Parts: sequence; structure tokens; C-alpha cells
Amino acid sequence: MKIEGNQLLRGRRVLLGVSGSIAAVKTPLLVSALVKAGAEVRCIITPSAAKLISPLSLATLSRQRCYQDEDQWNPVQTRPLHIELAEWAEIVVVAPLSASSLSRWAQGLADGLLASLLLACECPVVAAPAMNTAMWENPAVHSNWRKLKHNTRVLPLTPSSGLLACDRLGDGRMVDPELIQLAISSGLIQKSKSGILNNDWQGKRFLVTSGPTIEALDPARQITNRSSGRMGVLLAQAARFRGAQVDLIHGPLQLPQSWLEGLTTYPVNDSKDMQKSLELLQPFADAIAMAAAVADIRKKGGAISKKLNKENLLASLDNGFESVPDLLVEVVNRRPIGQVLLGFAALTGDDSHIEKLGKEKKHRKGCDLLLANPIDRNGQGFEEDANGGFLLGPEEMVIKIPVTSKLALAHQLLDALIEIKPNISKKY
Ligand code: CTP
Repeated sequence: MKIEGNQLLRGRRVLLGVSGSIAAVKTPLLVSALVKAGAEVRCIITPSAAKLISPLSLATLSRQRCYQDEDQWNPVQTRPLHIELAEWAEIVVVAPLSASSLSRWAQGLADGLLASLLLACECPVVAAPAMNTAMWENPAVHSNWRKLKHNTRVLPLTPSSGLLACDRLGDGRMVDPELIQLAISSGLIQKSKSGILNNDWQGKRFLVTSGPTIEALDPARQITNRSSGRMGVLLAQAARFRGAQVDLIHGPLQLPQSWLEGLTTYPVNDSKDMQKSLELLQPFADAIAMAAAVADIRKKGGAISKKLNKENLLASLDNGFESVPDLLVEVVNRRPIGQVLLGFAALTGDDSHIEKLGKEKKHRKGCDLLLANPIDRNGQGFEEDANGGFLLGPEEMVIKIPVTSKLALAHQLLDALIEIKPNISKKY
């Protein structure tokens, strides 16, 4: 499976802190994935985490020694270790972040190597807490977490819900290592762009459609479009990493399930269900991105319950179809004041053709922004890690976007949506 951000991590310096929660058993997988993606990884383990997993596993997987508390005041050190590591790291990740490490960090305590490092570092920090549900819901823990969430250097990955090792079913499960890897790539993109993490989507609600829709012909056959759902889901997660509350309406996806963690998801199959979910959710959205590849035609009167034989199938193909309504146009027509709309256009041909058709489509559909992207070039578009094209906006705005990772493109699209929002609010 392709994991977004592999190129983004090549040569990047990631410092991974592991603190005392049983979720630490998943951290070696994260170290291994980061190293395979070309990152340089160094690990710090707290004394309680070292009772749960072996420092040797982390050292072996990272190809570096794993630092522990006793190393901090080792007389062979010529500079304080926590300062040296803080200066080395481009990004810090704490996975898992235990209740006590969270408390130390939020209170500004420097007892222990990881705690000192968290006070000393000036780079972005991805924080992935894990603990028992009652501990997570404790007001003291919550107040510490709130403090960190307001720190613009922190990318907070709120725990998800599930069966915990303490046999409790509830919130407190550390998000999946695949999602943490995505958050690291996202943090590095933001750092390269502006030097800091940006939580400019805080307080905003974002609605995204993604993936293909499927129109059944009979129990065996269906009409659909090519789409893995990658662009829409990355757009949704990038906005969530920047603080948005995200609703994702999606058709069948070909992506790691963990990429949906932290989003409110509405799985659908056909365009009718997507249409219903859009009607329900549109009024609450500040911005909408329509990245779904909606199937263009469907069987008149719906799918046939009995499998058609070949003869009937041909007769049915002759006259039994209708166009699927244009969901983007419907959304544009009922937009409330101030809502910003982004559409996509999957096109073929050379650059000038794509720009021209994209402009026509944007005009016809009436969205504020439209990304016109080629789908007939190697290494970009459907099912690929990368994408590029023309971003078309208000007043004949055209920005050529060179091919880049879909995650970096997602951040560019979020920047553009935020930038035009004040103008849109005045216009409608
Ligand atoms: N779209 C939609 N409803 C449809 C078809 C498309 O909401 N029934 C949206 C897509 O989500 C995308 C935009 O419209 O944001 C453009 O989709 P695209 O497939 O490129 O264009 P079509 O409208 O289908 O036009 P054509 O296939 O003729 O180029």
C-alpha cells in the first residue's frame, strides 16, 4: 500500500518520545515506517515506557541509540543532552503521551529527559495521548490537554475510541501509527512553508466529499468512476490537523482505515445517498470541498433486483439510463451566506486545454475555487501520491500548481479557501 508522505519524510530529522502507556507497543511500528520512508529517527524512552517495551527494539529499528533518563547527566556529554536533541530535531512526536508526561509538559516540569526536551524544543510537536477512558475524562487531564491544544507548536491527535487494554470500551486509544505518520508529514509541510504549525482552521467546520460513487445496475454489475478517495481524505485530515471540525461524506475508499480517525464520517454508496448527506450537512459548513468522483449516469428507476442476462443487459443499456444530478451545482444553488465552495475537475489534454476547460467548468458550476487537474499523466492524479494542475479562483485568478504530494496540495487548497473566505462573506 502506498503511504502518503514517503518522499516528504526523506532525510527529515524526527525525534520520537515514548512515555508510559501500553500503546507504546505500537511505537516500534511507527519507528520502522519512518525509517523505511527515509527519515532519520532518534528515540527517547521514559522509565515507565521502558518497563513496557525494550529500548533495544527502538534502537535497532531506528539504527540509533535510544536515549534514557540516565543519559541526560552522563559525564561524557559535553552539552546538555536535552538541548542537543531539541536543536537536532525538525519535529518531535510523543507517541504515546501518558497522563503523567502530559501533566509534566502542561505544567512546565523538567524532571526527566523527555520532560526537559519538551520544554527545550522550539520545533512543532505531534502529541498522541493514550490512557484509560476514566483517566482521559478526568478534568485535570482535560485541562492539561486543553492547554496543549492552544499551543500553536502542538499538533494534537486526540485519542480515538475502542477496546482498551484495560478491557474498557471507550475513548483513550492512541491513534494509529499510520495516522501519526501522516500528521508528521503534515507538520513538516507546514513548518517548511511558514516555520510553524498553523491552526487557522480552528473553530471552522469543513465538509468534504471523497471517493467514487457506485450506481448498481443489477446485483452483479455497477457503474463507477476511478478514484481512491486520497485527495479528499488528505484534504479532510490536513484541515483537521489545522484545527477544523471535519465531516467527510465518502464512497468506497482504497485507503488505510486509520486515515479516517478524527473525522466524522458518512459512508455512502450511490449519488442519492451522497445527495441526502450533503443536504443534511451543508447548512453547518463554513467551507465545502467536492472531491468525490460522482458517477455520471444511473439506471432509471434504480437497480434491478434480479441479475440481468446478457440480452436483457443490452436492451437495458439501450434506453434505461438517466444522468445523475450535478451535486456541486445543487450545493452552489443553496449555499448559505459566507460558505466557500471548492470543486475539482478531472481533465485530459495539455496544460492550455486543461486551463481553458477548467475555467469553463468553474463558470458553469459556480464554485469559488476549482482545481483543474490532468488525469492522463504518469505519476499524478487518480490513485497516485501526487497531483498538480490549475487552481482557478475569483476574478479570473489562475495559479499553476506544479506536481506535488497530495498532502502538500491539500495544504495549498486550505490556504486558498481561508484566503478568499473574507471576500466570499462580503459577496453573499
Ligand atoms: N460533481 C458533482 N456531481 C456530479 C458530477 C460531478 O458534484 N454528478 C462534482 C465533482 O465532485 C467535482 C466537479 O463536479 O467537484 C467536477 O466533476 P467532473 O467529473 O470533472 O465533471 P462533470 O461535471 O462530471 O463533467 P464532465 O464529466 O462532463 O467533464
